[in-house]
Amino acid sequence: MVKKIQIAIDGPAGAGKSTIAKIVAENLGYTYIDTGAMYRAVTYKALNQNIELSDADSLEAMLLKTNIVLKPSSKGQLVFVDGEDVTQLIRSNEVTANVSQVAAHANIREILVAKQQQLAANGGIVMDGRDIATHVLKDAELKIFMSASVEERAKRRFIDNEKRGIPSTIEKLKEEIALRDKLDSEREASPLIQAEDAIYLDTTALSIEEAANEILTLAKQKVE
Ligand code: DC
Repeated sequence: MVKKIQIAIDGPAGAGKSTIAKIVAENLGYTYIDTGAMYRAVTYKALNQNIELSDADSLEAMLLKTNIVLKPSSKGQLVFVDGEDVTQLIRSNEVTANVSQVAAHANIREILVAKQQQLAANGGIVMDGRDIATHVLKDAELKIFMSASVEERAKRRFIDNEKRGIPSTIEKLKEEIALRDKLDSEREASPLIQAEDAIYLDTTALSIEEAANEILTLAKQKVE
């Protein structure tokens, strides 16, 4: 039987992680898990319930009573919070603007990381996030750190937003991306950093297919 490995893909917002990870997973017949969606789901519910996002204890109490389910589908990963399909709702500007604050709480991360580790336990997984290689799946057979210039990432988000009908401008997106990079990489709990044993992949000048093929080639070397 072919070995089913764990593939960890980390990097800043808009580097192309989710699009590329999805293609890699499909090609290998693996499950794709977007861990950012979990932090977004918590943020979405907290905003709905008017919970103060700086209040780690209240957030934890809420999270312990929340059922977050990630369901793979032909349209990509679906996200359910307490049975409600929030796949689109967690991409709103409001959630995007507030999620870094929620993701900075160590207690919230601990609960979500345990869930992520459970989901990946049997291998055959492509998981993307910020701390997958450094924290969640330290033993992953393949670790990729993916990035691209802020300009390029803002352009990609803009096109993505247009498709989803979310209004934005490239200038504003550049500012938001730079701010989120800063918050995610300077936070104390599991900051965004490249793992020592991760391979750096700069996608600025690569097409989606080229980036996916690079990872698939590396993955195939690992399972041989
Ligand atoms: O990838 P994304 O934009 O959906 O991530 C949303 C936020 O969640 C982002 O600001 C960083 C945070 N995040 C994290 O801290 N750790 C992860 N493993 C995934 C996302």
